[in-house]
Amino acid sequence: MTVVDLGCGSGVLGLMCLRAGAAKVTAIDNSSMIEAARMVYDAAGFGGRVELIRGMSTEVTAAEPADVVICDQVGYLGFDAGIVQYLEDARRRFLKPGGVLIPSKIDLDLAGIESEKCYAEVSRWRAESLAPEFRGLGRFAENVKCPVTLERAEVAAGPAELGSIDLREDAPDYHCWRAELKCERDATLHGLAGWFRCELSEGVWMTNSPLAEERIQRPQAFLPLAEPVRAKAGDSIGCTIMARPKEGVLAWVVEASGKRQSHSTLNGMLLGWRDLGAGNPLAVPRLNREGEARRAVLSYCDGVRSVAEIEELVWREYPGLMPTRQALSDVVVRTLSTGAELD
Ligand SMILES: C[S@@+](CC[C@H](N)C(=O)[O-])C[C@H]1O[C@@H](n2cnc3c(N)ncnc32)[C@H](O)[C@@H]1O
Repeated sequence: MTVVDLGCGSGVLGLMCLRAGAAKVTAIDNSSMIEAARMVYDAAGFGGRVELIRGMSTEVTAAEPADVVICDQVGYLGFDAGIVQYLEDARRRFLKPGGVLIPSKIDLDLAGIESEKCYAEVSRWRAESLAPEFRGLGRFAENVKCPVTLERAEVAAGPAELGSIDLREDAPDYHCWRAELKCERDATLHGLAGWFRCELSEGVWMTNSPLAEERIQRPQAFLPLAEPVRAKAGDSIGCTIMARPKEGVLAWVVEASGKRQSHSTLNGMLLGWRDLGAGNPLAVPRLNREGEARRAVLSYCDGVRSVAEIEELVWREYPGLMPTRQALSDVVVRTLSTGAELD
């Protein structure tokens, strides 16, 4: 079979496919890890059966559709590292009709967590030793999803099955899942934690559950509560998780002891007008200094001039555009490394 290894990193998954008999692997990675993959495939003697493509999977094209697309972008929570949108795109453009996706399905679990250790990211903003003017920043920490490595004993309520995402089908942009978490013992719940069980092929599952005997060494996602909740054995904690996987937004609502707490990663982001403006179709953009410099660099990139000649021309023709020669050099490298092919 032919295989696309999407986000190949060191190339480990593609290598396993080749060792299992794959005829060819197309390995895609948007970072310099593509060079690590090249070394690994060459060292394993498979260099001739691998096509390496540097770029975001959503922005590159493959020579021909493959029988299998394999990808490890499951993150901590299953859908928080981009797998949903990457495989949706890959299914359409890189996979033969009837081809195989690995993983094919992600199941999500949710639990209530008692853990001062996990809660430290929130509680440190309330410490006596912290200057009062910084304490307001704690509201960001209360809305951030944190990778944590949980002990079995820290799971105090649940777990419950939250939902499931079938990667072979188009997923909705918005999910709203509800779960009732049964308290196993008296506990102070500091937050929720989520993890995944993903199906690699029929009957073969991979999980980062802290409760599983056989699990991969990957953290779980901790979702803190602004106010820890006191719960008794047998209590039921109502939880709602809302997610926009393609936009990386996650919200969690907890109802317990007659109180409702609501959090969202949107409230954990330091969003300035710059972050929001480019997503507004009605905003009217103007080139800033970096944009001007990039435009100048690209306008001199004609397939004949060298990098040094391009830099020299921009330095001479656009005096004062960048404050120092070093700053211009950096823009030249940034612009050409993504906007040009270099021989
Ligand atoms: C979590 S690592 C996994 C590496 C490897 N597959 C493994 O299992 O060890 C993800 C790698 O994929 C790259 N990556 C993530 N999303 C990508 C995408 N959509 N297109 C190309 N590369 C991507 C990252 O730069 C990183 O090198």
